[in-house]
Amino acid sequence: MSTHAKVRKAIFPAAGFGTRFLPATKSIPKEMLALVDKPIIQYGVEEALAAGCDQIVIVTGRGKSAIEDHFDVSYELECTLEKRGKTDLLALSRQVSHMVRLSYVRQKEAMGLGHAVLMARDLVGDEPFAVILPDDVIDSETPCLKQMMDVFEKVQSSIVATQVIEGDAISAYGVLDGKPVPDNPRLFDVSGLVEKPKPAEAPSKNAIIGRYILTPKIFDLLEHTPLGAGGELQLTDGIKGLLETEKVYGYSFEGVRHDAGDKFGMLRATVEFALKREDLGPAFRDYLKTLKL
Ligand code: UTP
Repeated sequence: MSTHAKVRKAIFPAAGFGTRFLPATKSIPKEMLALVDKPIIQYGVEEALAAGCDQIVIVTGRGKSAIEDHFDVSYELECTLEKRGKTDLLALSRQVSHMVRLSYVRQKEAMGLGHAVLMARDLVGDEPFAVILPDDVIDSETPCLKQMMDVFEKVQSSIVATQVIEGDAISAYGVLDGKPVPDNPRLFDVSGLVEKPKPAEAPSKNAIIGRYILTPKIFDLLEHTPLGAGGELQLTDGIKGLLETEKVYGYSFEGVRHDAGDKFGMLRATVEFALKREDLGPAFRDYLKTLKL
């Protein structure tokens, strides 16, 4: 990796089963569930592009072909829309397929997030890269990954996005140990991390969420990390390895994160995103006001 490297590539792990969203995810990839009218993975792809990435790598698995179709050209659809003079809808469809060059790599078995990231090694090579978990949809003024890129420009080290999680819910996350960096209140110097700790054993309330910038060293580490609980290769084990030789930072992003891979999180995101829409917001707000809650 060069001394002043730029992040150009973003990996989207999308090969999981999405069990929290069954039965919808039995045949529809979780990443294709619509938040208002856009599949959740498209929010992430747009964020990566807005942050300056120009190569997107999606890690898919069996039953995920709808993701590839979504980002592909749909001649029949576009032709029909053109004939019917539906120019707005035509533009929406074309915008997706013309968005960016995407590559796909297959994870044959869902062996964990670390394993999914490792599958993209050949496409990423020896340069720093971003990882976006598509079910974390982040609503922020400056796209979350762009905020992290700005920090990366200065520190040239791995950065994981974090959010304060209160109470027992912390046990569902990787949790950071570390101390704040004096001149940047959003930045932590990470000294350790624990995957899914019991609430009493969590080293802090700073949970890792689905945005990472990682140095390519992590690939070697993941390659040599034994499979952990449930036969899964954890990305956090690779990050722990990085900590032995490199700096890793936690970044408390500006914005609101929605866990759209969870039913309640998706409902909350739907209400908030719909209320913000110029075309839907006013009527939706009026409707919500009529509900006797
Ligand atoms: P999650 O744990 O949220 O996804 O992983 P999941 O396993 O699909 O969901 P649940 O918990 O059963 O509902 C975060 C991201 O990592 C991907 C998932 O597709 C998701 O986008 N992932 C996870 C992989 O690509 N491969 C894996 O082996 C595991």
